[in-house]
Amino acid sequence: MTPSLWPRRGSRSGSGPDSPGQLGADGTGDRDGTGPEVLDFGPPGRGRDDAFGPDRAAGRGTGGAGPGAPPAEVLRVENLAVSFPTEDGTVRAVRGASYVVHEREVLGIVGESGSGKSVSSMAVMGLLPRTARISGRILFRGEDILTMSRRRQRGLRGLRIGMVFQDPMTALNPVHTIGDQLAEAVLSHQLVDRKVALTRAEEMLDLVGIPQARARLRSYPHEFSGGMRQRVMIAMAVINGPDVIIADEPTTALDVTVQAQILEKLLEVKDAVNAAIVLITHDLGVIAGIAHRVLVMYAGRPVEIGGTDAVFYRTRMPYTAGLLGSIPALESAGTDRLRPIGGFPPSLIDMPAGCPFRPRCPLADDACRQAEPDLLSTGDEDDPDHVAACHHWDALAAVPDPTEFFRTESEGKRP
Ligand SMILES: Nc1ncnc2c1ncn2[C@@H]1O[C@H](COP(=O)(O)OP(=O)(O)OP(=O)(O)O)[C@@H](O)[C@H]1O
Ligand code: SF4
Ligand SMILES: [Mg+2]
Repeated sequence: MTPSLWPRRGSRSGSGPDSPGQLGADGTGDRDGTGPEVLDFGPPGRGRDDAFGPDRAAGRGTGGAGPGAPPAEVLRVENLAVSFPTEDGTVRAVRGASYVVHEREVLGIVGESGSGKSVSSMAVMGLLPRTARISGRILFRGEDILTMSRRRQRGLRGLRIGMVFQDPMTALNPVHTIGDQLAEAVLSHQLVDRKVALTRAEEMLDLVGIPQARARLRSYPHEFSGGMRQRVMIAMAVINGPDVIIADEPTTALDVTVQAQILEKLLEVKDAVNAAIVLITHDLGVIAGIAHRVLVMYAGRPVEIGGTDAVFYRTRMPYTAGLLGSIPALESAGTDRLRPIGGFPPSLIDMPAGCPFRPRCPLADDACRQAEPDLLSTGDEDDPDHVAACHHWDALAAVPDPTEFFRTESEGKRP
């Protein structure tokens, strides 16, 4: 059985690591050490009869893989901490993040600007600057990325871990054609000839919905629209059939209608290559529609993690409730009042004692001043992996709508 990352409330017995598998047999990062063959993804739809297939609503929640075993872990992050020494002091950007990503699932990471979403994901990709101080473990299929050589990390990146960033223009080289860049992504990881790599590039452009894919291989990035460039980035992320795609704000730079198309395409492609996705976004609305599980970050730490239904409908952390109260509910058709969370996140250089959310929290009391709460089980019967970091999580359990705690004075009394 997979060990839990989080102790139960009232118990401090931690967890142990597990090592479900190894990276590449030859130690180079080549998939399974099988050598030069181009990976055959098979037709889209392969492997869809699992918990994290395209029927996303049915797949929500952890486990529940139907007749077989639950999906295996691809990524396990344990107590990750990242800090940056600066002239003003040490920025504690990530302060103990633990989470798991299973095969084919969509994990949504949300949180305000500066909460450590990108830094924690950069650590997974081995892309943090050398000045960063990193501790903890990041297990990809059981092997710790943090103790790998840089060469081995490079072998993993782009092959087993695909990436999609916010701004494709910074990731694409303006002086090379789209075809050359896609082919290079194949050639740098697989011993195939250029013709095979270009064929794969064309297939991928087609998969992400670029019309006349063969002709467009000869285009340069500036000849594509923003949405098309982001499709190219998705093609690049999946061209080697990764196990997990990390997408950091992949649609923020696009207009709203294109955003929806790109997200839909990302999910379609994820299903086609059987990958998991870690989707970082500010937008809880996006998460609601597509994530199986949600991780809420605040001030460098996860403060609530669980299946999407658990986090949205059985919220146990006031910050999550505040976020939920600040987005429009579709069914209210604009009649509900939005309640932004007042105040600002704390400085990551000079963290106050106690709970970092305390100055903004309507439930804060003396206990919150004394100690920062651990991330502990909420005792959720429907989602045993639902955890929250709050001394007063049970106060949220006692009310039907925890967003009401964020009522303003003019709206009347709080629950
Ligand atoms: N190289 C660095 N040196 C110093 N501080 C850094 C560095 N990189 C990130 N930080 C700081 O780490 C904190 C977390 O940054 P991060 O980029 O992870 O935030 P984020 O949650 O992704 O925010 P956003 O939603 O704005 O992208 C921020 O305070 C940021 O200023
Ligand atoms: S620990 Fe206290 S201050 Fe922090 S979120 Fe919970 S109630 Fe609010
Ligand atoms: Mg970011």
